[in-house]
Amino acid sequence: MRIDIITRNEESWASLQLRRALTKRGIAHKCFPFSKITARVGYKPAASSIGENLDELDGLIIRPIGRGSLEEIIFRMDVLRRLESLGVYVLNPPSAIERCADKYRILSLLEERSLPVPRTAVTENVDHALHAFDELGGDVVVKPIFGSRGVGLTRVSDREIAERVFKAITFYRGVIYMQQFISHGATDIRAFVIGDHVAAAMRRVADSWKTNVSQGARPVPLETDEVVEKIAVEAAKAVNCKVAGVDIIEGHDGYYVVEVNSQPGWRGLQTVTKANIAEEIVDFLVSEIKG
Ligand SMILES: Nc1ncnc2c1ncn2[C@@H]1O[C@H](COP(=O)(O)OP(=O)(O)O)[C@@H](O)[C@H]1O
Ligand SMILES: [Mg+2]
Repeated sequence: MRIDIITRNEESWASLQLRRALTKRGIAHKCFPFSKITARVGYKPAASSIGENLDELDGLIIRPIGRGSLEEIIFRMDVLRRLESLGVYVLNPPSAIERCADKYRILSLLEERSLPVPRTAVTENVDHALHAFDELGGDVVVKPIFGSRGVGLTRVSDREIAERVFKAITFYRGVIYMQQFISHGATDIRAFVIGDHVAAAMRRVADSWKTNVSQGARPVPLETDEVVEKIAVEAAKAVNCKVAGVDIIEGHDGYYVVEVNSQPGWRGLQTVTKANIAEEIVDFLVSEIKG
């Protein structure tokens, strides 16, 4: 069996964890970045990197798709799709990576599965955005539609500031994505789904409403109950993620899923769980390949 990892940095914490797990199981593997892939049409191999044919791989772990120009991202997704159609098990599947790139798409798919999501409005138009701001109670979180790690999120509860924020976003040809602010007491839940179960979860405790670990929140161990487990697993399924980091906030009237991450890190989570997450990811992938 051969499973490779696409990563910008094979010495990064997550890549090292995965490599160790693969080595422990005697699985041959190599690491390379997207920039070292050559795809071919009309002659073989369909894709190669660092001297090996990628179409002969059993599995390919994406860690992560990364930033890039529109051209780069579309090309990367196309190569992953091609490899998938040639029989390589790509983790996460390209369709999951694509669905999770955009917060609006994620929440729409979750709503279609009747999962609890915060009321959210998305528009390119400043006047419509101001109308939606009022609809959402005049207290919203404005988020970059493609964002992650809590970067660029702002809470806006003043109409004049809202107008300036919306104008700034559209000036740079951005799309305005806003969500009702849900008072959650500066904590939320990160559930790490692998396959059809929550492999580990944590409560993230922050000093303010933004509870990303990369923004300074502290991971605290958490045993999930059946309700959270079901929401997290269903949310991952809705976007076709085999591995997912599901962010769940708790308002006074219940749980809300704010996003599903298709390329979640687990360094913070690993400090508060006994499960070896990298090993569970590899074991899941191996069982899928064999199945
Ligand atoms: N609607 C909301 N109300 C209150 N807090 C929110 C809301 N949406 C997000 N947050 C907080 O901000 C954090 C980051 O939001 P999220 O949608 O997960 O974006 P990112 O991709 O940047 O992680 C969440 O983990 C949560 O703590
Ligand atoms: Mg998040």
